[in-house]
Amino acid sequence: MPSLAEGTTLGGLVDELTARLVPSLGGAARSETRRLVQLATGADRTRLLLHPDASVAPGAAERARTLAARRAAGEPFAYLTGEREFRGLAFATGPGVLVPRPESETMIDAALAYLPPERPARVLDLGTGSGCLLLALLHERPRAFGLGVERSADALAYAAGNRHALGLADRCALIRASWLDAIGGRFDLVLANPPYIPAGEIDALLADVRDFEPRLALDGGADGLAPHRLILEGLAERLAPGGLALVEIGHEQGAAALAAARAAGFADAQVLRDLGDRDRCLAVPAPTG
Ligand SMILES: C[S@@+](CC[C@H](N)C(=O)[O-])C[C@H]1O[C@@H](n2cnc3c(N)ncnc32)[C@H](O)[C@@H]1O
Repeated sequence: MPSLAEGTTLGGLVDELTARLVPSLGGAARSETRRLVQLATGADRTRLLLHPDASVAPGAAERARTLAARRAAGEPFAYLTGEREFRGLAFATGPGVLVPRPESETMIDAALAYLPPERPARVLDLGTGSGCLLLALLHERPRAFGLGVERSADALAYAAGNRHALGLADRCALIRASWLDAIGGRFDLVLANPPYIPAGEIDALLADVRDFEPRLALDGGADGLAPHRLILEGLAERLAPGGLALVEIGHEQGAAALAAARAAGFADAQVLRDLGDRDRCLAVPAPTG
């Protein structure tokens, strides 16, 4: 029997699993492996870096190998760690919910520019998923109240957990419904990040998105804008006077999304671009007059 000291060490485990993940992750393999080893062994980052010779209990090593095997099979990193950071907040994530994307921060930047901190506001978030957009906004706008709408029961459960974990349950209601179907009243701000991948392009997505993230969060119909058109159809009746809707779009969908907004009667709609100067968001002011 080898003694424990001769068994798996922290450094050895990181090297072994990095080698396993390099073919799929390239340069990101070592940093992701370190996080997975931390998760499986309970070692913090300092211990991992300063004590590579520390031994690892067989059960913990096995847990790390299982996580690495799941990652090698394409499972999103955020599903393995169970969380993803968005606007500096930790959002629980896992199978059944879209992982928050950094590019969606354009929506929050635009929402914050529209909504002064001191202004009480009613905010509607369509397709709330993990709740990242609505909860990040409520976190930064303490006088705002929000309603999140989501069709997937699995996703809604993550949003409910996140709203509690972030201490925002008293300002955030959630309902299971389809887009605007069950919604009454008017809102100062409507956020929506609907699925916008054209159905025919889903097979060409990276495997970790295509095979693991929910199709309901990805598939935007023939040209990717079918959900947007449905939302635009009912939007005028849900926007308060002076209100604004921000609807996320794909980076090449600006012209088509603008045409859809104009066809729905929103003459003043505009396309906002992200930090990479790509189409990212349709800004739709409430019609005047
Ligand atoms: C692209 S994801 C966005 C999730 C989250 N808002 C975010 O930004 O990470 C689209 C979300 O819309 C939801 N969804 C799809 N069809 C819907 C519908 N008809 N009504 C309400 N939500 C829907 C999906 O389940 C998914 O959570």
